[in-house]
Amino acid sequence: MAKGSIIAGVLAPHPPHLVYGENPERNEPKSECGWEILRWGYERCRKNVLAKKPDVLIVHSPHWMTTIGHHVLGLPKFSGISVDPIFPNLFRYRYDLNVDVDLSLAIHEELKARGMLTKVMRNPDFRIDYGTITTLHLMNPDWDIPMVSISSNNSPYYFSNEVGMAEMKKLGEATRAAIEASGKRAVLLASNSLSHRHFVTEPEIPEDMSFEHVYHHGQYLWDMQVLNLMKTGQCAQLLDILPEFIEMTCAEVKAGALTWMLHAMGVPDYPADVHAYGTVIGTGNAVVEWDHENRGGVR
Ligand SMILES: [Fe+2]
Repeated sequence: MAKGSIIAGVLAPHPPHLVYGENPERNEPKSECGWEILRWGYERCRKNVLAKKPDVLIVHSPHWMTTIGHHVLGLPKFSGISVDPIFPNLFRYRYDLNVDVDLSLAIHEELKARGMLTKVMRNPDFRIDYGTITTLHLMNPDWDIPMVSISSNNSPYYFSNEVGMAEMKKLGEATRAAIEASGKRAVLLASNSLSHRHFVTEPEIPEDMSFEHVYHHGQYLWDMQVLNLMKTGQCAQLLDILPEFIEMTCAEVKAGALTWMLHAMGVPDYPADVHAYGTVIGTGNAVVEWDHENRGGVR
């Protein structure tokens, strides 16, 4: 069997507004439009990533938080209606997804072998979190590629950013080892916004873009600094400043998805493609692709 590999990694944020703005049949609420820069960025990224013919999409989401250890899904199918608890007016999405159980269990075994706490979710009624659903929809609205979902361990919140990042490094390295042994072509999806201070009221028409703008100039400057490090292939430097970025902007990357993904890819030193940056209720969101198969080389 050929060695498996990570063919791409994507910073793939999950504001439900982007699904709402797109009006897929699976989402009950309907919009007129909205958040085009981010949605069109996702379209470009999706085209690149799906052209690589991945066997599996692996998502790490802050909204499946587990206090003890790292959990994975252990049944081949999950279905239901995913409702965003903050924006039920925007996101009531019917999902029906297929899990790559072999790879889920391989990650589980790899974690165990490294002495890490891990558990397999086998409750058929388990509700998949809206972050995972939104990211997967935006990357592959046809839902025709099996997925693996990894929970976000609570360590950065219970202990510190540094402890959480050390845990995500180990999780990333274990994920890479399991992918390589699987023989599969995997895409990693870090389901995170960047800066995360946000407005607390919504306009009467949620997609009225005259209300959408950065929450705070300082937060925006931090996002630009982080994106410039990604664009110039300086991910080691990015990891160095991440704890400060998290503290200064309440960044959602605190939950670990970006750290997990960068370490799984061996901390890239080549430029990433920033497909879009935009705000959603003032939070900073970017769609960023690492063409890991070609190490950022010319397409
Ligand atoms: Fe979120």
